[in-house]
Amino acid sequence: MSVFLCPKCRTSLAQVGNSLKCEKGHCFDISSEGYVNLVLGNVSGGDNPDMCRARHDFLNAGYYEPFAKGISDVIKEFSAVKICDAGCGEGYYSRIIKNESKNAEIVGFDLAKTSIKLASKAEKSKSDPIKYAVCGIFDMPLPDNSYDALISVFAPIPDKEAHRILRDGGIMIVCHPGKDHLSGLKALIYDNPYDNEETDTVFSGFEKLRDDRVKYTVTVSKEHISSLFLMTPYYWKTSVSDAEKLKHAEKLETELDFIISIYRK
Ligand SMILES: C[S@@+](CC[C@H](N)C(=O)[O-])C[C@H]1O[C@@H](n2cnc3c(N)ncnc32)[C@H](O)[C@@H]1O
Ligand SMILES: [Zn+2]
Repeated sequence: MSVFLCPKCRTSLAQVGNSLKCEKGHCFDISSEGYVNLVLGNVSGGDNPDMCRARHDFLNAGYYEPFAKGISDVIKEFSAVKICDAGCGEGYYSRIIKNESKNAEIVGFDLAKTSIKLASKAEKSKSDPIKYAVCGIFDMPLPDNSYDALISVFAPIPDKEAHRILRDGGIMIVCHPGKDHLSGLKALIYDNPYDNEETDTVFSGFEKLRDDRVKYTVTVSKEHISSLFLMTPYYWKTSVSDAEKLKHAEKLETELDFIISIYRK
């Protein structure tokens, strides 16, 4: 039986050959990389292929590993086994969690097909792979009250869906930038860089337990500077002349400042 429900009729899906099928005959092909596309109709959104590849290149160089370990530590602390990575991108955080908690049963959803392909390729030869689907996160094909944890890392926050799929006492982990995040990158491109705003968000049906902060400095090598820039929102907000400044940098020293907010249903 698949971990995913049929997105059309919400009954269970079973693998038949290279497809997932429900009892009503709805059928979804399993790609050669191992993911399924569960998007119904013309849903758009998600990162473009260049951004997906940039995130993949930058994250796998390891600069964010202490932050990823911070998320993984929360998963261990709450003994979460069934985990949903909503807006998982290319799966970097899910892979670290799975490495650190071998019994974790992880599903990841993202609308960006390029990212889901990259995420699935990394699972290809594994005996207990993370299961990925191209799918929107505001209507996920998962049963009610069934997951221990949902993680949302720099992605839109599907708090109502999180509330539906989490069991009572399950946790929602929302990761967002702290005020000094990427201050060095901003100092390099802007004349008057501003601090990120830190907001303390309340989600209906959840109790906020705490914020964990992970903060450290890294030196980003020349080859990764443009990937980092492309995966940030600054890419869209920066003038061509300001972005040019990055091309001349030999390396980039910057603060990384992450907030891991933990909520309990
Ligand atoms: C900033 S990226 C973060 C990706 C990943 N969590 C990480 O940190 O590497 C935000 C992700 O949310 C995805 N996304 C945006 N809106 C979405 C939606 N409605 N449903 C599913 N994924 C969505 C994008 O495609 C992108 O991969
Ligand atoms: Zn169906």
